[in-house]
Amino acid sequence: MTEAVDILVTKTERSKLQDINLENIPFGKYFSDHMLEADYENGEWKNVEIKPYQPLLLEPSLAALHYGQAIFEGIKAYKDDKGNAWIFRPQDNFRRFNLSAERMNMPVVPEEIFIQGMRQLVALDRNWIPAKKDHSLYIRPFMFSSDAMLGVRPSETYKFLIILSPTGPYYANPMKIMVEERYTRAAPGGVGFSKNAGNYGGSMLAATEAKKQGYDQVLWTDSTEHKWLQEVGMMNVFFIIDNVAITPDLKEGTILEGVTRSSVIKGLEEMGIRVEERKINIDEVIAAYKAGKVAEVFGTGTAAVIAPVKELNYKGFRMEFNPDNYRISRHIKSWLNDIREGKTEDKYGWMVKV
Ligand code: COI
Repeated sequence: MTEAVDILVTKTERSKLQDINLENIPFGKYFSDHMLEADYENGEWKNVEIKPYQPLLLEPSLAALHYGQAIFEGIKAYKDDKGNAWIFRPQDNFRRFNLSAERMNMPVVPEEIFIQGMRQLVALDRNWIPAKKDHSLYIRPFMFSSDAMLGVRPSETYKFLIILSPTGPYYANPMKIMVEERYTRAAPGGVGFSKNAGNYGGSMLAATEAKKQGYDQVLWTDSTEHKWLQEVGMMNVFFIIDNVAITPDLKEGTILEGVTRSSVIKGLEEMGIRVEERKINIDEVIAAYKAGKVAEVFGTGTAAVIAPVKELNYKGFRMEFNPDNYRISRHIKSWLNDIREGKTEDKYGWMVKV
């Protein structure tokens, strides 16, 4: 059981909602009327506040900007036909957030701030949840070190915030992917499994170079052989080969434990498809492709949900796929949408009412 926390609420005087149309909105561009903010000082969380969305006043010496103790989460809220607001699997993101916090030597955030605060914030800004298909309210909890100090050591103070962003589909089109051979996203013993800002900062150059060659993103490979597959862009990756779903396992700590990943695994099992969480390397994918056995390749993540891949390029060898024929991932996507929109029974208790 968690204790209730007192959250000071200050409401905006004028909603920005009247200025925007909640249809076909780009990902992460608009923010709702309110945000949650809390401070960690002297070993405890305090000043938990919901207030109008506003800029932060920060010191140029802010530790997070220099040494990168910064973590975040991505969660989505949906509206059902009756106008009720629901959040998808927030407990799983809460657990993962605190795993990231521990790895980055940051304090954990208590459930009553993370979950209760999120529910209260979403309830206040519930009119910002778009009703359109494939749209949702993206919830972004994040924490960063806030000492004003240039010494390299874990900060003594931190800020935790939650902001909300109404959003449409993340990737509109199937992706062309370059298999990465030079850069590394994560190595065993590193921080690959955590959702820390540096993982994303470190990925951008590879993605930019892939874009110059006409690709949308990279398929990350291991740090020594550049053969063992990890994540696609910022998502977990799945292959349907010979009617078996294969996704890299999490044992080495190089891969984010995706909440969508685990939901997709459940959906595949419900479809009667065998799921193998194991190491998979690019040679196996190439051999299966040559034998005509790769039926689908897709990424899974909170933002995009399921993003089909239409091409993989490995050292100039192009493997082309036709997402129009992706029967399994399409089924899983609509199964997940139906649970989220309240059209299918939520038998795993994934939806939390606001
Ligand atoms: C996700 O798939 O949710 C991501 O991690 C992308 C996000 C950082 C925008």
